[in-house]
Amino acid sequence: MPPQPNKSGVVVIGIDFGTTFTGVAYDYVGQVEKSPGDVTPQAITLWPASNYNEADSDAPKVPSRIAYTSTEAIAWGQQASDEQGSILWSKLLLLDDNDLQLHLKGSDHLKQARERLEKTDKDVVTVISDYLAKVWNHVLENITRARGRQFLNTRSFHVVVTVPAIWQEYARERMECAVRKAGILNKRPGCADTTHTFVSEPEAAALAAINGHNKYDVLENGQTFVIADLGGGTVDLISYRVKATQPKLLLEEVVEGDGALCGATFLDQAFSSYLKSKVWQKKQKDRNLKSWDQMHIEERKRIMNTVWEKGIKRKYYDGQPGHIIDLGAQGNRRPDILLDADGLNEIFDSVYQDISKLVEGQVEAIVKKTGKKPQFIVLTGGFGRCEYIYRKLCREHEDGIEILFEGNDGPWTAVARGAVLSGVAHVNNQGQVDSHVSRYSYGWLKDEDFDYHTHDFDDHDIDELTGRSFARDQMEWIILRGESVEARSPRLYEYERFFGMEEVGLVSFWEPIYRSNLIQPPNRLVENETSKGKSNRSGEPAEFRKHAIIDMKAPVPVEKLPKRGGKEFPHRVLIYRVEVNVSGASLVIKATSGGVEIGKKVITGLLE
Ligand SMILES: Nc1ncnc2c1ncn2[C@@H]1O[C@H](COP(=O)(O)OP(=O)(O)OP(=O)(O)O)[C@@H](O)[C@H]1O
Ligand SMILES: [Mg+2]
Repeated sequence: MPPQPNKSGVVVIGIDFGTTFTGVAYDYVGQVEKSPGDVTPQAITLWPASNYNEADSDAPKVPSRIAYTSTEAIAWGQQASDEQGSILWSKLLLLDDNDLQLHLKGSDHLKQARERLEKTDKDVVTVISDYLAKVWNHVLENITRARGRQFLNTRSFHVVVTVPAIWQEYARERMECAVRKAGILNKRPGCADTTHTFVSEPEAAALAAINGHNKYDVLENGQTFVIADLGGGTVDLISYRVKATQPKLLLEEVVEGDGALCGATFLDQAFSSYLKSKVWQKKQKDRNLKSWDQMHIEERKRIMNTVWEKGIKRKYYDGQPGHIIDLGAQGNRRPDILLDADGLNEIFDSVYQDISKLVEGQVEAIVKKTGKKPQFIVLTGGFGRCEYIYRKLCREHEDGIEILFEGNDGPWTAVARGAVLSGVAHVNNQGQVDSHVSRYSYGWLKDEDFDYHTHDFDDHDIDELTGRSFARDQMEWIILRGESVEARSPRLYEYERFFGMEEVGLVSFWEPIYRSNLIQPPNRLVENETSKGKSNRSGEPAEFRKHAIIDMKAPVPVEKLPKRGGKEFPHRVLIYRVEVNVSGASLVIKATSGGVEIGKKVITGLLE
């Protein structure tokens, strides 16, 4: 018998494509609605193992690594080796150069990733889609293995893809393109269309952290907490206030989140440069010693993958003595090197300082807004398990904020699991976070009747058509960065458009929509210069830019519009209204005249 489509059941799959590791989790939402506490996302495991370490396959995440081998076959995850020219950190390559912080532009990681990408003659979206296609195949096999082929072939899918909160819209669009190209959203015979949504990585991490955790029922209404997702590339923060605890925990974003590229791989890089320089210094005194690059590749791998990755990086903290590193056999001796505590602290601090600054920024913003410190800071992400960071944050905040993290794999898979939770809430139409804040300010230009008290004389102009004295290029900001999105009721603006008496027909016109990173962008277009405003995130331009255009068209031939201006300035007037609504993560802008729609523009990516 052919499989019977079951339209009511949806498999919700969360995909967290990370800079260093990728995680996938899923859960099934059957006919009976699940409340958030009942959802227990399963992380996908049994990833194809490398030849030498079967144990790796059991891990809940797989390296974000792909290699195009000489036989045209694609090696991925654990199986893609350095010798095959694996491409790593491809997620960072989705960003335009301008959006990479200064210190990253020349980073070895990026250089290597770029060089390797160039050798493949493929663009980064294709490479990521090839990788995701492999991951997706494995996911389908894994679900089939757990639930059976009939189950898989008859249930529709809702896929949730996670993206860093600091990403701009174009990067998310590139990611969407890669997901589509990987075939993840393809039509599946006998099933409803696969749907998909995006969720920011820290929001997903937060959902996983609070889901079903009784320990968080110490939270009372009005209390706040910060979630810090410390990954391989990005550190992303998000802060919530508890809006209600009954009948279920309901959260609202309390201040705008923040983030930066200062994840674990930058610590790896700092360590490897430090180690190289230490070996070099020792070699100055002992000529027979091999330099780091001359050392056997297996020794270098042992030191980086085991001594560092599984040892010092995870367990070292300020207050411990330094480490002696065995450099392996060199002829008939076995030299070693001492990494003293001061040196190690300096390496960890090179990344810790950025993280601490980000955390401090959230805490200060929360105090400013609510008058109280957050109750706690929850660390998630693989790097969130780093002992050095945990202890130092504890020390820095010992006067009132608790730092929480779980010691198992939970924090590492939080983003993928949280993505599933967000997807289940989407499918059931019942979210746990019911208030977000806009990531940008949006606005357009307007002319105003000139008023000596409020306008700058430099903006003064006389309209030749109407004879009107007006202030030109004043900004109308329709939503401000940091504004709570759900709390907004629709906004209405009324404008007039003038036409000359010689104009006829259904005349079209358009208005540019500007986007700004500023919380309080200037009210005049001429003040749109870098020097006039300061973005509160490093690396972001302070000037605003044209982001979109809304096209409009007169609803009737303009010669039929009412006439004004007497004999001296005869002209025709179109009175129209613009309504601005927020729908999910989009800004919906609709222009009407006399109840007839004359133009519409939807701007997506409000919350990313
Ligand atoms: N116990 C630990 N202590 C310190 N670092 C750890 C620990 N466990 C994992 N890591 C590091 O965490 C990083 C991976 O974290 P994660 O999987 O959250 O990042 P990602 O999702 O790949 O990156 P991003 O979210 O920035 O795109 C790796 O660099 C890994 O070495
Ligand atoms: Mg991550």
